[in-house]
Amino acid sequence: MFPLNQWYVAGFSWELQDKPIARTLLNQHVVMFRTGSGEIAALENRCCHKSLPLSCGTIEERGVRCGYHGLLFAPGGACLEVPGQARIPVKARVKAFTVVEKDQILWIWMPREEGGTPTCEAPDYQVHSDPRYRFRGDVFHYDAPYQLIHDNLLDLSHLGYVHLKTIGGNAAVHMNAELKVEAAGDQVRVLRYMPDSSPPPTYLGAWPFAGRIDRWQEVEFNVSHLNIWTGGADAGTADMRDPQRGGFHMRGFHAITPETETTAHYMWTMAANSHPDRPDMTDLVYEQTALTFQEDKEVIEAQWKNMQRHSGAPQVDIHVDVGPNRARRVIERLVKENTQAAPQPVAVP
Ligand code: FES
Ligand SMILES: [Fe+2]
Repeated sequence: MFPLNQWYVAGFSWELQDKPIARTLLNQHVVMFRTGSGEIAALENRCCHKSLPLSCGTIEERGVRCGYHGLLFAPGGACLEVPGQARIPVKARVKAFTVVEKDQILWIWMPREEGGTPTCEAPDYQVHSDPRYRFRGDVFHYDAPYQLIHDNLLDLSHLGYVHLKTIGGNAAVHMNAELKVEAAGDQVRVLRYMPDSSPPPTYLGAWPFAGRIDRWQEVEFNVSHLNIWTGGADAGTADMRDPQRGGFHMRGFHAITPETETTAHYMWTMAANSHPDRPDMTDLVYEQTALTFQEDKEVIEAQWKNMQRHSGAPQVDIHVDVGPNRARRVIERLVKENTQAAPQPVAVP
């Protein structure tokens, strides 16, 4: 069901405080923590003694201590201490996952084979350290399969129907926007431009536009996350092809990590720039974004409930589905690759 040999987002740096966190990722029950000495870890959330979740334990300098009989586990999964017993049994260890902390994002490697090591670097997300932007984020839980969230993010035509209170705008403008879809390797890009349109409420709250605006929506789909750059500039003042263009920018990081086949984690941040004449609008943009994503969650969970009620009922594609369908093909191909046998060495006579 899920592409493997991939980096997925397990959470954000600020979530690792003084208590271990339990999170199910791709059907794997994981406990995450930062040791007292600052090392991050992701282990199977089960003590190898009597199976208490390690997330019920406590964090110490060297690792996590089980909350039942006190076994201490290092970030690599080895048992370091059995209270009251000098000898540590050879089998006393728990499975460890490879985790990397980058740009305040916790990336976890999900291998095809047990114990498999990363075949590439964890992705970069430089927006989090770009001095032009400030950001906040959150983690939402979805009672819906992860690909329904991909569909939603790759087709922003829904803004004019779902998000009228925040980032919406005129539904007809959204539905008729020029759409370009590009695909290369495992990546899909959906580009939409809406010149001379009216600014939606969130934009007006955050930026002093003179009147009508040119809007852009650039969606970049990667297997485990999407980077979405949306924004607007006073009509006729910015070149939409210029990566350094001015105006109001919203840079969204959207990680969708399957929890199970039918549930998902949506871990997001929203970064925005501030106009010199306006105070820092990070909180306003965050609150409006959270409201927007709550609206998406309601739609997607209702959609999923209905899909289950009408299991197997056919759906009809329309013009806005090109991007989502491309991404579905990428996922389909990668899921197939999970089960393809690794190339066998050729026997030399
Ligand atoms: S169950 Fe963890 S130490 Fe006993
Ligand atoms: Fe949405």
